[in-house]
Amino acid sequence: MTPPAVDDRPIGMFDSGFGGLTVARAFIDLLPAEDLVYVGDTGRYPYGPRSLGEVAGFAHEIARFLVDEHDVKLLVVACNTAAAAALEALRDELDVPVMGVIDPGVRSLVRATDSGHVGVIGTVGTVRSGAYQRAVAASGAAVDLTVAACPGFVEFVERGETGSDQVHVLAERLLAPVIEAKVDALLLGCTHYPFLARTITDVVGRDVVLVSSAEETAFEALAMFGGGPAAQGEPAALAASPDRVGTHRFISSGDVDRFQELGARLLGPELGSAERAPWGG
Ligand code: DGL
Repeated sequence: MTPPAVDDRPIGMFDSGFGGLTVARAFIDLLPAEDLVYVGDTGRYPYGPRSLGEVAGFAHEIARFLVDEHDVKLLVVACNTAAAAALEALRDELDVPVMGVIDPGVRSLVRATDSGHVGVIGTVGTVRSGAYQRAVAASGAAVDLTVAACPGFVEFVERGETGSDQVHVLAERLLAPVIEAKVDALLLGCTHYPFLARTITDVVGRDVVLVSSAEETAFEALAMFGGGPAAQGEPAALAASPDRVGTHRFISSGDVDRFQELGARLLGPELGSAERAPWGG
C-alpha cells in the first residue's frame, strides 16, 4: 500500500514520569510539525523496582489508551524499563508502529566509543531484564560492556532534585563499576538520566562521552516517516509541511499541577498545561 502523503494523527509517547520528556524534547526539535501526546505515569512511578510483568501491564494499558483514545499513528515507548518489559508484545498487539529507546541507544553508544569499553546504566528492572546485554550482542559491535543499575536516580529526578549533594554521593557509589571498567562512552539507559548529566559527568569525568537515546530515537522516527511504509501496522507519514507547528498534549496519572510545573522546568515552554489520565488519582 502506498503511504498517505499527509497523516495528521499525533505521535503517542509514554514514560513512568518525567524521564520521557528527554525523548519528547528531541521529537519536538526534530519533528516540529508533528502533534504529540505524552503520558507520564507519575501516579505509578517508579517502574524500575517493579516486576517486568507489572510494568508490561501498565505499558499495555497506556498503549491502548493512546491508540484507542488519541488515535496515535506511532507509539514511542520512551522508557527503557517499559521497553524491556513489553516492546515486542506491544508490536505484536498494536496496529501502529511501535518504537523503543534501547536499540537506538545502542546504535549511538557503539558509534561513540574509541576504546571499545562501553557502559550502560539503567534501572534495576532494565538491567535485570538483560535487554541491553542482548541488544549490544545483536549489534555485532566488538565492545566490552559493563552494565550498572542506578536505583534511586529516578526518584531524585522526579523530585526535581538533579544537582544536590545527595545525588552526587549516590552517583559516586553507583557509577564505581563503570569507572573501574574505564569506559569511554556511557549510555544513559534510562530516559530520566539525561537530567542528571551534570552530576554523572562530575563523577565519571569529562573524558567519558555520555550517550542518550533521545536524538537517535527521533532520527529513527524521521527516517521511518520519510522512508515509505512503516515496519508494521498502518503506513505512517509526516503531518504536513515543515512550517506547520505541532500541538503538544501532556497527560499525567499523578498530581497534574506538579507535572505541569516541574515538567515545564525540565522540558521547556511547550509543556503549557497537563491533563489528568483517566486511571490517575
Ligand atoms: N524513564 C524510565 C526508564 O527509562 C524510568 C523508569 C522508572 O520509573 O524507574 O527506564
